Amino acid sequence: MASAPRPDGTDELRVFAQLLKDRKAAVAAAVVLSLLSAAATLVLPLQVRDLVMALSEDERPVGPLLTMAGLAVGAGLASAGSSYLLARAGEGLVSEARFRIASHILTLPLRRVRREGAGNLVARANSDSTQLRSVVDVGVAQLPSSLFLAIGTLIAMGLLDGVLLLVVLATFTVAGLGIFLCVRSIRSGVERQQNAVGTMSQNMTAAVLSLPTVKAFLAERQVADTLGHSIEDARSAAVSVARVTALVGPTMQLGQQLSIVAVMVTSGARLASGDLHIGEFAAFIVYLLQLVAPLTLLVSGVARMQSGLAARARLNSVLTIAPEHPGGLSPVEPSPTASAVEFESVTYRDGGRTIIHEATFAAPRRGLTAIVGPSGAGKTTLLGLTERFLLPESGRIAVCGLPVEQWPLHQLRGAISYVDQSFTLVEGTVRQNLLLGRDDDTGALPDAELWRALEALALREAVEALPDGLDTELGRAEDLSGGQRQRLAAARVLLRDSAIVLFDEPTSQLDSENEERLRTLMRTLAEERAVLVIAHRISTVQDADLIVVVDEGRTVDQGTHEELLTRSALYQELVHGQSLRGGGVRRPAGGEPVPAGAVVR
Ligand SMILES: Nc1ncnc2c1ncn2[C@@H]1O[C@H](COP(=O)(O)OP(=O)(O)OP(=O)(O)O)[C@@H](O)[C@H]1O
Ligand SMILES: [Mg+2]
Repeated sequence: MASAPRPDGTDELRVFAQLLKDRKAAVAAAVVLSLLSAAATLVLPLQVRDLVMALSEDERPVGPLLTMAGLAVGAGLASAGSSYLLARAGEGLVSEARFRIASHILTLPLRRVRREGAGNLVARANSDSTQLRSVVDVGVAQLPSSLFLAIGTLIAMGLLDGVLLLVVLATFTVAGLGIFLCVRSIRSGVERQQNAVGTMSQNMTAAVLSLPTVKAFLAERQVADTLGHSIEDARSAAVSVARVTALVGPTMQLGQQLSIVAVMVTSGARLASGDLHIGEFAAFIVYLLQLVAPLTLLVSGVARMQSGLAARARLNSVLTIAPEHPGGLSPVEPSPTASAVEFESVTYRDGGRTIIHEATFAAPRRGLTAIVGPSGAGKTTLLGLTERFLLPESGRIAVCGLPVEQWPLHQLRGAISYVDQSFTLVEGTVRQNLLLGRDDDTGALPDAELWRALEALALREAVEALPDGLDTELGRAEDLSGGQRQRLAAARVLLRDSAIVLFDEPTSQLDSENEERLRTLMRTLAEERAVLVIAHRISTVQDADLIVVVDEGRTVDQGTHEELLTRSALYQELVHGQSLRGGGVRRPAGGEPVPAGAVVR
């Protein structure tokens, strides 16, 4: 749940506690330097008093002049040092936040990531993390030092002349009230702006990923318009923040000018009567002129801090999404004889819809199990449930004899190799794609093994033809064809010795020669392990030891090709439609099978 910063300021405190964790010395030095710089600025006007007094008594003002120069240079250096130390600490905090949020996003359940939107999550890791810097800069340096300077200035003014201070305070109170109202409205504007930037990133990411389709359908204008809404939203929020922020400076100036007039008016008679010395009066005016700077910094600091805290709230709203359940705590001992994957009356619902309805089947420990059924029947969902990407509402799913929830998630997914329907390759080189998931423990593999896996899928030539062979970055300037990418995703499986292999329509983009190759590979794999394949070609299912027929989320029949041909009407329709899913067949209620390509109402 989103945890909005609480009004008692505990959220600010938490940000600072995190900041201070490993950087106490640097932050303390930055605070001391910024206070020193403020102190130097504070005593400067007193030198003005001494200077004026010295001049009025015809003395040479060398001392005050030298002190003033020293103080000015010292204040500058201290302020520069403080800024640098804070920037360093702030960037440390930002990179920590980025790393935390990026790592956390990777642990989230797939459905949740889809709901949040990839681009939106990326915006959190990028722009929202950056905004945290302002909490550091402002919170650690700007606010304390300007507060110190403002209070110090007021005290010094009070020491110089109490009556004049009261005059100043009275005029500034009016301005302060207006400013208080401004700051309050800045926070909501900043939040709206950041949300709009998230939506914009989301729309932009989706648009760029689907660019070929967008171009082919001449949808650039339409997509740009959609982007325009969130861009406009971000603009209008930013403008309303700017409008309010713009009022702060002039309001402060007005307060200052009113004060100066009021001070002049009240001082005239007192100067003439000698009640007020001209030197004290000059110093008071310098302090008064100087008062606006820390007050403005104070107000703008509070305003800027709002954007950091709004970003922090957005980061928190992601960090508090529960990660996937890690499953059992201790490693399990899979049974060597139990079915590889067993579904027992499994029901899965999503958004109120029942997607899988009491599914029951058992894929043998060794051999090829084919899953067939019309498009949208729930085949991919069955594989998702096996991998625990999705959690069933009821029923039992067991892998190698053990309920999936008993397996530590890491061990479960280690026992399964999955080639998804989009044959996803990750951003990186051919080698990185082949070795995906191998860490220091599992170790790198010699190139010869990689080439052997590529050869098994007739990919050697294609990869050799790439400019850097195995080390060519895919998906940017260089890429493989759809079918080659599909085979590369399948080649991964050969390098990962897992007990169960799941293929989601592995041959959808392959020509008959490569399909035959992949079938041979599946058969070979199935000799020693369980291969579950969602199949849409008759040739694949003919080879299968078990075929599970799925229709509208139900496992309606199972058996061998011959058995099903004799008893399953749906299977016959699927086979006669040639394609065992998708546009191939869809039965109108009680009617004849509809041939592939026909319009289905
Ligand atoms: N991300 C999702 N969010 C919500 N519902 C989904 C999602 N993906 C699929 N569905 C729904 O779940 C049902 C089963 O989808 P599934 O992907 O398992 O079908 P399938 O049998 O693999 O179809 P195909 O052969 O077309 O790949 C579909 O009716 C679909 O509407
Ligand atoms: Mg599918």
